[in-house]
Amino acid sequence: ERVAHLLRASPKAELHVHIEGTLEPELIFALAQRNGVSLPYADVQALRKAYAFSDLQSFLDLYYAGCDVLRTEQDFFDLAWAYFQRAARDHVVRVEPFFDPQSHTVRGVGFEVFMPAFIQAAQRAQDELGLSVGWIVSVLRHLPEEDALQTLDAAQPWLDHLIGIGLDSSERGNPPEKFARVFARAREMGLYAVAHAGEEGPPAYVLGALDVLKVERIDHGVRASEDPALMQRLAREQMPLTVCPLSNVRLCVVPDLAQHNLPQLLAAGLKVTVNSDDPAYFGGYINDNLTELFAAQPALGAPQAYALLRNSLEASFAANGDKALWI
Ligand code: HPA
Ligand code: ZN
Repeated sequence: ERVAHLLRASPKAELHVHIEGTLEPELIFALAQRNGVSLPYADVQALRKAYAFSDLQSFLDLYYAGCDVLRTEQDFFDLAWAYFQRAARDHVVRVEPFFDPQSHTVRGVGFEVFMPAFIQAAQRAQDELGLSVGWIVSVLRHLPEEDALQTLDAAQPWLDHLIGIGLDSSERGNPPEKFARVFARAREMGLYAVAHAGEEGPPAYVLGALDVLKVERIDHGVRASEDPALMQRLAREQMPLTVCPLSNVRLCVVPDLAQHNLPQLLAAGLKVTVNSDDPAYFGGYINDNLTELFAAQPALGAPQAYALLRNSLEASFAANGDKALWI
């Protein structure tokens, strides 16, 4: 109980959250009504009941469908501002949210619609909540590299408001190597690089993200534990892993929280963080992920709580002056 309180009340960074994954069913229905979009669900409860996933793809299908209600600048502002208020309640002081431009541009909704909203919501979060925000533009790995390059071009005018490039969507069959040119260009543009790897994909995808994309964090990475040499390297390099326990359970990456390998990753000396991924779909925000994991795992106590929270702040891309305030 003491540890649960420490986890909930301590300042922390959220380093793996998709802003589109914070779209709660209530907001989906409100935006559908506002925009005259008809939904194939009778009500909020019916939609929530559909959130029973068997793997990553079964989730992504609903996640992209949910995006369809996001049409106007106001919609994107409401989405981001609602999330920032929710994160502040969990004592998040720094958040580096992903956004998926291609899930919007494909519907004719461009950067000029969502970027002003994201920028305004971040400014208000800083002013009113003391919450620091760094946006990560994420490209969809199931689409061709050429589309990702075009997305990076479209992002160029907004570069001052972006901190990193990410890689998400269907992992299997879409290895990091497919996006070597995109990540090389993004790094030339001054963006930090992160990539989803080792969620459903094999340890080889983590290696590809490190060696070819030259990422400075791995998103998920839980399957690294299948490769002892990779584990040693991740520990030696203190490469941050943004692990998302409730996501892993909901997407059947692990059977339940009690069997999650996060304690082993920590014990092996890896720089592990706990995050929420798509909290509106997976049943919990960052404090829920932390407290439910600790409740399920007797091996986790105060030392691990302290390490996870400190890791989250250290692994953020915030300026060193900001980090010094938090750590
Ligand atoms: N994995 C891959 N793509 C995603 C995820 C995820 O957990 N969430 C949103 N897009
Ligand atoms: Zn993710």
